[in-house]
Amino acid sequence: MMASLASSVTPPVLSPFHPDCDELYRAWRRRKLAACPGSLDELMVPVTDGYALTAAERGAILRAVGRAGLAIYQLPRHSAGDKLLLRQLGRQFGLERLDNNLCADDDGITSLHVVETRQVGEYIPYTNKRLNWHTDGYYNSTERQIRGVILQCVQPAGSGGENAFLDHEIAYIHLRDENPDFIRALMAPDAMTIPENVQNDVQLRPAQSGPVFSIDGAGHLHMRYSARGRNIIWKDDADTRAAADCLLNLFQQDSAYIFRHRLAAGEGVISNNALHCRTAFSHGNGDAQSRLLYRARYFDRIVDIEKDG
Ligand SMILES: [Fe+2]
Repeated sequence: MMASLASSVTPPVLSPFHPDCDELYRAWRRRKLAACPGSLDELMVPVTDGYALTAAERGAILRAVGRAGLAIYQLPRHSAGDKLLLRQLGRQFGLERLDNNLCADDDGITSLHVVETRQVGEYIPYTNKRLNWHTDGYYNSTERQIRGVILQCVQPAGSGGENAFLDHEIAYIHLRDENPDFIRALMAPDAMTIPENVQNDVQLRPAQSGPVFSIDGAGHLHMRYSARGRNIIWKDDADTRAAADCLLNLFQQDSAYIFRHRLAAGEGVISNNALHCRTAFSHGNGDAQSRLLYRARYFDRIVDIEKDG
């Protein structure tokens, strides 16, 4: 089973993402930047029935994902809490194989809300604290990397809880333009290590080393990253440290490529695990449980199932 989830971490020779393929990179970069949206509005797709998207809705979502790594679908409000709809919507983009992580519900979809109990509450997504830039599942093994994510808002917080998104292909351009050696450093299999997770003397997860950037068997770029200062061990060499700093700088700039949005009830983000973060939130009227989002994480990338599926 593990073998079926594996994808190559060795870059294929001919890919714009390979640091030695300069001509391919230049051509891809031109196309990518020319297609970048000017605002998040261009990535919003109203959807009438999430169980059965029209060809126009499906096409609009695929185009947005191609341009920015994500789309925001807008369901009729009464569908906001429909978990099965989320599952079926994902299937229309080839998102099938769910990561049943430690905190997922029985159906493999995670309910993100403030949890007071200790084990789950120790993970920041289950608190109301700010969540730093990351891609989902950065602590997963190489064989179980998260390629696609859906996050659907059932109920927003009283205030705060805004997300920001950055296409990881844009982060790649930022680094490569600065210094192609940064890309080589971040493609090293020991570039970034997450220490083991031990609670009450029980190891819940072993230490995970892996690259930040990798290229899958179909030539797509994947990113594994967390901007957390704690619990991340960067490889101790000059290029890796400089590359990690260069990424942090990107997040501190007011970049035209960073899109901020507070999901409303019924809105969902479907993405190829683009970089994202979240502001802290509070609940209004003292209701600590009020913010609720459903999150599904997949081993699959978004595809046009009519063409590629
Ligand atoms: Fe996340």
